[in-house]
This record gives sequence, C-alpha cells and structure tokens, in this order.
Amino acid sequence: MNPANYRARLLLDIVRAIAGPFSLLYLFQRVVLRRSLGPWTFLLYAPLILCWNWVSNIHAAFRKAREASRLGARPIPQVVGKWPGNIDVLLRMMRAFKTSYVLDVYLQLFQEYKCTTLNLRILWVDAEHSKFILATGFQNFWRGKYQKERMETFLGEGIFNRDDERWKMHRDMARPFFARERISDFDLFERYTSQALSILASEEASDRASEVQDLFSRFSLDAASEFLFGKNLNTLASARPIPGKSKMGPKGSATDDSWGSFAQAFEAAQQNITNRGRIGRLWPLFELFGDRNVPHAQAIQAWLDPLVQQALEDHANEKRAGINSSIAEKTFLQHLVESTQDPILIRDQLLSMLLASRDTTACVLTFVTYILAMHPEIAERLRTEVVGMIGTEAVPTYEQLRNMRYLRAVINETLRLFPPVPLNVRESRNECAFPRVDPTYRDTDADARPLFVPANTTVVYLPMLMQRNPSLWGPDAEVFNPERWLKPECIANFVENPTMFAPFSAGPRICIGQNYAYNQMSYFLVRMLQRFESFSLAPQLQPTGSLPPLEWKDRKGRQAFEKVWPSAALTLYVKGGLWVYLKKART
Ligand code: HEM
Ligand SMILES: *[C@@H]1O[C@H](CO)[C@@H](O)[C@H](O)[C@H]1NC(C)=O
Ligand SMILES: *[C@@H]1O[C@H](CO)[C@@H](O)[C@H](O)[C@H]1NC(C)=O
Ligand SMILES: *[C@@H]1O[C@H](CO)[C@@H](O)[C@H](O)[C@H]1NC(C)=O
Ligand SMILES: *[C@@H]1O[C@H](CO)[C@@H](O)[C@H](O)[C@H]1NC(C)=O
Repeated sequence: MNPANYRARLLLDIVRAIAGPFSLLYLFQRVVLRRSLGPWTFLLYAPLILCWNWVSNIHAAFRKAREASRLGARPIPQVVGKWPGNIDVLLRMMRAFKTSYVLDVYLQLFQEYKCTTLNLRILWVDAEHSKFILATGFQNFWRGKYQKERMETFLGEGIFNRDDERWKMHRDMARPFFARERISDFDLFERYTSQALSILASEEASDRASEVQDLFSRFSLDAASEFLFGKNLNTLASARPIPGKSKMGPKGSATDDSWGSFAQAFEAAQQNITNRGRIGRLWPLFELFGDRNVPHAQAIQAWLDPLVQQALEDHANEKRAGINSSIAEKTFLQHLVESTQDPILIRDQLLSMLLASRDTTACVLTFVTYILAMHPEIAERLRTEVVGMIGTEAVPTYEQLRNMRYLRAVINETLRLFPPVPLNVRESRNECAFPRVDPTYRDTDADARPLFVPANTTVVYLPMLMQRNPSLWGPDAEVFNPERWLKPECIANFVENPTMFAPFSAGPRICIGQNYAYNQMSYFLVRMLQRFESFSLAPQLQPTGSLPPLEWKDRKGRQAFEKVWPSAALTLYVKGGLWVYLKKART
C-alpha cells in the first residue's frame, strides 16, 4: 500500500478488528439459530468485539512466547499501566512532552522499572531500544511501514524514508559527494561563516543580543545549499528576530518573510510527524479530514521546485551544447539530474539532505554556544587553543582543524549530552532477540537470556539517554566535561564499547555527512572564537513559555540547572531559540 494512504490503512485495521466478530455473529444467527436476533444483534456485538480482541491477544501472546522460547529469549519487561491499553501511560507521556525536560519521561520509566529496555504496550504497540537495531542485527529492522506513513507527505522519496533497494540507490548516489576534497571546501565555509559573523558583530556593535539558533540554522542552510546545489539561498540576508519582540515559532523564533515561511513549514512538518509518532498507529483518526502536513509540504515545494526545474533545464541545454563536465565540477543537484529526470525524486532527495544537514549542525553550534555561555572557563581555554594554533586573523587549514584536540573534545562532549538526533525509530521486520552482550544492559537484572522482539514492532531507541547513562559514563555523566575526551582510560572505554557514543548513528545507515559536519562546525567555531571572547545568556529576551519551568529545580540531573529548554522534533533544539550577548575579543 502507498504509505500516503493512511486513511485506507486505518480503515483496513478497523475492518480487520470487526470483521471476525461480525462473521461469527452472522453465522451464529444463520446456521445455529436459523433466524435473526433483531435489535439484540447490536447489543451482542460490542462485547463480542472485546472478547474477540481479548482472545486474539492471548493467541498472539502464546505465539510470541513460542517464538521467544525457540530463540531462547525472554519477553521484554512490560510497562503496566492502570487503564486498558496503557492509555494512562500514553496520557502521562503526552503531558510530559509539553512540560518536561526532553526524554525525561522515558528516563523515569526506565528508573521505575530498573532496566534500559521496556515494552510500553501503548495501545498494544510495543517499543524499546538498542544498538542491535543499527548494526549487528541490521537485517532484522527497517524504517518500516508505519514510519513511512507518518513521514510520506513531508519526506516522500527521500533517503530517510526508504528501505532496501530505494535506500541503497540514494546512498550510492550521494556517496561521491562526501569525498574528502568536496567536504573540505574551506572557501565555501569561509563565505558563509564571515557573513554570519558579520551579522553577529553588527548586533554586538549596537549592544544587542543575538538569537543564535536562528542564525546558525540559516548559516548551515545557506552553506549546505551551496554545497548541494550550487546556489546561495541567502537566508542569512533576511530579517533577523528582534530582541524582546521575537515570537515563538514551531521550534525556534519566527520571522515573517519568505525565509520565515520556509523555516516555519520545515519545522511545523517535523513537529507534526513527531506528534503522530507519539499518538501511535491511530494517528490517522486525528487527520481524517486532511493531512496536516500538506500545507507545509506545499510551502517547501514552492521553494524547491523552481531550483529543480532550473537544474533540469540547464542539464538539457548543456546536453544540446555538447558540454560534459566531470563529476568533480558538479553539484549534487547536477549529478542527480543526470541519474534521473524525475523532478519529485530529485526534490525529495534534496529535501532530505537539507533536513539532514541544517538542523543537525545548527543544533551543535547552538548548544556549544550555550555551553560557552554557561562555562566561561571552557570558552577561555578553547579560545586559547584557537589563538595559539591559528592566531586571531588567519583562516584554519584542514590539518590545523584536525589537530585541535580541545575543540574536538568540546564538540564531542556537546554531541554526547545534546545529540542532534536524541531519539530514533525503527520497526522489526521479523522476530528476533536482543543479545545480552550489549553494554546498555549492564544494569539490568540477572536473567541472562536475550530479549525477544516480535515481528512488526515499533522500536524507539534513545541515544541521548544512553550517552548520559552513569553506568556507561560514570557518576559525572550529566556534567559537561570535555576533559573526559582527553583521558586515555575514557577513550579506551569508548573504543571497547563504540555504541556508547553514537550521535551519528552506526551500522549501514550511519550518517554520510559526519566528516562534512565536523569540518563545518570546527571551521565556524574557530572563526567565531577568533572574533568573540565571551558569551552570556539573555533569559529576559526568551519568548514567553520558552524558559525551563520553575519546578525543574527540584528534579534530578541536568534539568535542575539547565538554563534553556531542550526539546525534540526529529532533531534537538532550544525551545524558543537561544538569545545570547556576545562580546568582541580585544586582541
Ligand atoms: C552534527 C551533525 C550531524 C549529526 C549529529 C547527524 C546525525 C545523523 C544520524 C543520527 C543519522 C541516522 C539517521 C537514521 O538512520 O535514522 C544520520 C543520517 C544521515 N545524515 Fe547526518 N548528521 C549530521 C550532519 C549531516 C550532514 C551535514 C549531512 C549532509 C550534508 C548529513 C547527511 C546524512 C544523510 C544523507 C543520512 C542518511 C543516511 C542513510 O539513511 O543511509 N548529516 N545523520
Ligand atoms: C501541524 O500542521 C498544522 C497545519 O497543517 C498546524 O496548524 C499545526 O500547528 C502543526 N502542528 C504542530 C504540532 O506543529
Ligand atoms: C560524459 O562523461 C561521462 C563520464 O564522465 C561518460 O560516461 C559519458 O559517455 C560522456 N558523454 C559524452 C557525450 O561525452
Ligand atoms: C507483519 O506484517 C506483515 C505485513 O503486513 C504480515 O504479513 C505479517 O503477518 C505480520 N507479522 C506478525 C507477526 O504480525
Ligand atoms: C570524537 O568522537 C569521535 C567519534 O565520533 C572519535 O573518533 C574521536 O576520537 C573523538 N575525538 C576526541 C578528541 O575525543
């Protein structure tokens, strides 16, 4: 079935659930009683549906138990709610998504049940997490039918929304563009970095605070769009949020011009997908009369379609003129139009790349800036490394960036505590079992059998909680401490358990853009620290509702002292944007 046909899928699910009891009742009347029960039929029908589902659940449980014992596995510990279908747990989660620290509700459940893999059984849909999904057991999982259904209107044919052959095709198409010489085009980084830093400098010169999350999103979008399709979208030139007047956008702050409409559509679509994921497989009930992402998808397409059209025309013209440029001179888009003429495929591939590169790098730069504001001593030490190795004016070289150990440590530590992709979702294709050797199970109980995963199970895994887990990282797991990346024993621990730090994922679907991202982020941070020496938060300028609620102060972990509200919608961001005062360096 086409994943866009979510209404048909829901209808089919409902028909499946009621068709059995209906036939049974019909046969009972026709064959056994040989007459109709009249209005009594309706009264019998409801309890019969419940019984039917109850029996088929028991039957499914038996089948699962048999499969599990065949694999020598045990069931995943279940969350036991008070209401049928764990609806109370679902409501608790919905409330928490609005009011608590990102992913805190999962952490609380893990602590309540004293384990790191849980079966949520929300509306009888199972969920849990592991590295087995990504690497060693890759063949057992895929992005899956239900995830595709949620993302189809927004991401369509893109790489994030496909499996098997289609996914491989995308990956093969993209790979040549991430060769070293392409991803270290420092001239390109310099153009957009200097444009972004000039904006910060002029805001600083007029004693204004800057909303940096917005700026970093534009910087990474402009840089990525030139890298991907050779065109300067110049979103950096659009109007900036005004201190004290910024409105809350779906993620960060909102502006009203056409860049603002693109960004808002981009962000709202992600929010809507996240919401669907939280509701579970019954989300179509809330969108029976219209797919909420259609308007957002249209706004995004209005931006991208002309670019694709232009590229297709240019390609046709070049072909007529007999020009044949080598792959080294082509942009990603030019390469795409050579492999396919399908404008929708091309557009969706571009959109996935933009999504992959914009929000992730912007997220890291935003949280690094937040950390520099929270920890002036780290800012100072980082600036000492930058100025010591490169000076206050010169542009860094590739080799210099590679040798900046403290900078790398700060970036890694930011990726550890604030991974841009804090949670992710897969579906199991068949029955399988999580092996017990996984280090994330260190703190579970003594039962050494593997954990059974039934077929067609939605699996949510949470890199952010894994990367903050004290049993892997020690008692100071929640503290921002870049030093840990410079200690040999910590590196040894990490080499032994590589999945304890997987901000770029792992296995066959590992991030293609990892090196590009490290280069771009390092380059930007070096240039920023050459020009600015201190950073301070401006909480009074955050839009209403974007500061951490007071009651967080009494909670455990980072939320007791966090000064911003980290939130997630596919990617991590600071709610309401990040307002910061920057101070120009004197030397
Ligand atoms: C700090 C920056 C970044 C982080 C933390 C990050 C993280 C990730 C993660 C976790 C995935 C796996 C998603 C999944 O399988 O569900 C992923 C995939 C991907 N990333 Fe990144 N990413 C970053 C930057 C970039 C950049 C700059 C690009 C491109 C210019 C990029 C391109 C991709 C692509 C194409 C995939 C899909 C790979 C596949 O499905 O085979 N990423 N990234
Ligand atoms: C989802 O999209 C609709 C418009 O189609 C919008 O009104 C709504 O705010 C979005 N939801 C979220 C959570 O962003
Ligand atoms: C253009 O170059 C590609 C490889 O770069 C080659 O396969 C193709 O045959 C060339 N086409 C023409 C018309 O020269
Ligand atoms: C999983 O889904 C497939 C396709 O929808 C179906 O054929 C299969 O019976 C399902 N397996 C289980 C155990 O539900
Ligand atoms: C940062 O993390 C990467 C893995 O993503 C690792 O290879 C590298 O050694 C780390 N760098 C530092 C300075 O710790």
